[in-house]
Amino acid sequence: MMDVTDRHFRWLMRQLTRSTLLYTEMIPTAALLHGDRSQLLDFDPIESPLSLQLGGDDPKRLAECARIAADWGYDEVNLNVGCPSSRVKEGCFGASLMGRPEDVARCVEAMRGATSLPITVKHRTGIDDLDSYELLERFVRIVAEGGGERFSVHARKAWLSGLSPKQNRNVPPLNYDWIYRLKGTFPSYPFEINGGITGGDAVAEHLSHVDAVMIGRGAQDDPFQFADFDARFFGAEPATRTRVEVGRAFLDYIGRWQGRAPLQILVRGAHGLFSGIPGSRRWRRALGEGIRTRGLVAAEEALESFSGDSESDSLAGPQELKTGAGAPTQGS
Ligand SMILES: Cc1cc2nc3c(=O)[nH]c(=O)nc-3n(C[C@H](O)[C@H](O)[C@H](O)COP(=O)(O)O)c2cc1C
Repeated sequence: MMDVTDRHFRWLMRQLTRSTLLYTEMIPTAALLHGDRSQLLDFDPIESPLSLQLGGDDPKRLAECARIAADWGYDEVNLNVGCPSSRVKEGCFGASLMGRPEDVARCVEAMRGATSLPITVKHRTGIDDLDSYELLERFVRIVAEGGGERFSVHARKAWLSGLSPKQNRNVPPLNYDWIYRLKGTFPSYPFEINGGITGGDAVAEHLSHVDAVMIGRGAQDDPFQFADFDARFFGAEPATRTRVEVGRAFLDYIGRWQGRAPLQILVRGAHGLFSGIPGSRRWRRALGEGIRTRGLVAAEEALESFSGDSESDSLAGPQELKTGAGAPTQGS
């Protein structure tokens, strides 16, 4: 997610889940080919498994970017065919590519030829009047023939004109059934469902229909929900850290970054860490206004006020953890 899933947010997420696949923000091919690569691509090894999301529609440029992604150590490349922003629309990529499945297939094929990394695609259920199950099925079939290895489907169509990107994430109704149906039509392809999903129980329900679940805004609003996902969905070691311990580790980490970017930007991913816990507003205020006027000490003080608060610690403790199987991911 642009301006959300930067490396600092992903570092925070890795304090909560080691197994979940994380996605970068969308990086347009032009930015990657002509911009500051270290700034755009560098990540901490702890962030793996990590998918680099690209925006573009030129097979050669996408292939070059996929090669760069492999050299940089990414685990997967994801092509964005779902973003309805006008900037992206004018560049003729993002969601507008849903109307050109053959071109998407050519892009995927070119990227596959350039790297052995898995090439996956994030898309919508339709755009504008191209909005039927048959067209969606045709899109997936053609892109899979080009080598697309997983389909992450935002369960809404997008209106390319008339709705803002924000409205396009809320206004078109959710249509999970078509994604379940895709799984029935193409049982051997992995499908990841996305849109309006949050919380382990909802994830578990969707996993009875499809292979994976992508959580976008829910990860930003309440990252701590991921704390039991490794145990519950991956059969991995449970995370045993409390919210306060995660907050402390994060502030230590941010301290090492101080001076390299504005503090408020560095900490923006942690606003939701205490979501649903008494004192969460105090924490948000500390990370916003507090940090702006008083620096990191404002956040450290807010954290200490939780440390004596047994309720927040007990809510965050390992007794929350359950076990199970499946594969949720955090949205790009
Ligand atoms: C601030 C913001 C930025 C986003 N940026 C991207 C992006 O860069 N690439 C992408 O594929 N989706 C992006 N999305 C869409 C989300 O990945 C997701 O598809 C959408 O929000 C629906 O899922 P959710 O209800 O779980 O949030 C963005 C969403 C938000 C709120």
